[in-house]
Amino acid sequence: MKQSKMVCVIGLGYIGLPTAALLANRGYNVHGVDIVQSTVDTINRGEIHIVEPELDTFVQAAVKSGKLKADLKPTEADVFIIAVPTPFHEGYVPNIDYVVSATEAIAPYVKEENIIILESTSPVGTTDKVEEVLKKEGVDTSKLYVAHCPERVLPGYIMRELVENDRIVGGITIEATKAAAAFYKTFVCGEVLETDAKTAEMAKLTENSFRDTNIAFANELSILCDKFNIDVWELIALANRHPRVNILQPGAGVGGHCIAVDPWFIVHAGGKDAKMIRTAREVNTYKTEWVIEKIKNAALKFENQNGRKAKVACMGLAFKPDIDDLRESPALYITRRLIADGLNVLAVEPNIKSYKEFEIIEYNEAIEKADIVTFLVAHKQFKALDIETDLDFCGIQNKKGKNV
Ligand SMILES: NC(=O)c1ccc[n+]([C@@H]2O[C@H](COP(=O)([O-])OP(=O)(O)OC[C@H]3O[C@@H](n4cnc5c(N)ncnc54)[C@H](O)[C@@H]3O)[C@@H](O)[C@H]2O)c1
Repeated sequence: MKQSKMVCVIGLGYIGLPTAALLANRGYNVHGVDIVQSTVDTINRGEIHIVEPELDTFVQAAVKSGKLKADLKPTEADVFIIAVPTPFHEGYVPNIDYVVSATEAIAPYVKEENIIILESTSPVGTTDKVEEVLKKEGVDTSKLYVAHCPERVLPGYIMRELVENDRIVGGITIEATKAAAAFYKTFVCGEVLETDAKTAEMAKLTENSFRDTNIAFANELSILCDKFNIDVWELIALANRHPRVNILQPGAGVGGHCIAVDPWFIVHAGGKDAKMIRTAREVNTYKTEWVIEKIKNAALKFENQNGRKAKVACMGLAFKPDIDDLRESPALYITRRLIADGLNVLAVEPNIKSYKEFEIIEYNEAIEKADIVTFLVAHKQFKALDIETDLDFCGIQNKKGKNV
């Protein structure tokens, strides 16, 4: 495929914008689409609206060269990439409304020989649904190449992983698989693995369910170790010396748009046959509630001992270290719940300047003022702190490092 071709990227968030900027820097003409005017304006100024290392350089260069333009509306293109959110509705029911409306939006611009790629993480069958929606909008889909290519980049390393990761490409026909795979091969140096659309959809959900299940094991261990008065970090380090054991690290729960969400897509479709995947989700959700209870008990104990309410520092709000992404974040959930339950909270998030619901303060100030410091996210700033104790990330300690 000649790189002078036009690619239309729908959804300019954590996935769509890096993809659009990368393609533009690789010589494609890229028309990026988002429904948020401020996002479009920011990108057209050569700036970014999200935190992701190196992305600013890519976007600035792409916009300056005229290869990347953002708009509220799609345009005719050779390749359409849909990278819109796929959250869930109430009750963990998958919500593909954004995918449907993005597909409706491109329908008037789609023509013969176009490649339509769904990159959003999707319940099995969604790529077929994209074709169905196009048909419903009056598009002749017989000469289109409709495929799914799940994204599996790690926030913080997106620009590198977009190029280096292996990609799974599954078309709704063999021809669609081949056409979409040929497109990815123009900018991916990892392997491009070909399959069908349903397997590609399920592969992404499987990857995240695998991670969720393994994290659930570590989280359950942390709760059990607390009960048995065993240091879980030491326990895991020792158990991992077994040549075939590799236990992950526990945390305050599981967050983000992927691991905390995608397993539900399997559970929703799999029903009672998705026992382990459902249980892992439940364990990880329970871990967050468990942390809340621990902090509340510590605060109560402090109040009983000192005759005044404890100031509790919540260190970190993001869903994982060193990013600003708050989606499905257990740390944010914990902070909100503590505030709602009347605790005196000092909220800290070094990657965010302000937050709509409560004040965010500097971490040094929070530690200085707090009676109880809770490390909810292992941000690099916190790991570098010179505190005379072993920092028990996601554990609960008072300022002198004594467990409370
Ligand atoms: N963020 C990640 O690390 C990551 C990793 C792998 C897969 N994914 C998947 O990629 C998809 C996108 O995730 P994201 O993190 O980029 O989401 P995001 O919320 O950061 O970005 C989505 C963007 O789409 C825009 N949008 C919504 N509806 C639209 C429409 N109809 N037309 C045009 N724009 C529209 C939103 O305004 C937003 O800017 C999701 O399915 C997610 O699960 C994300």
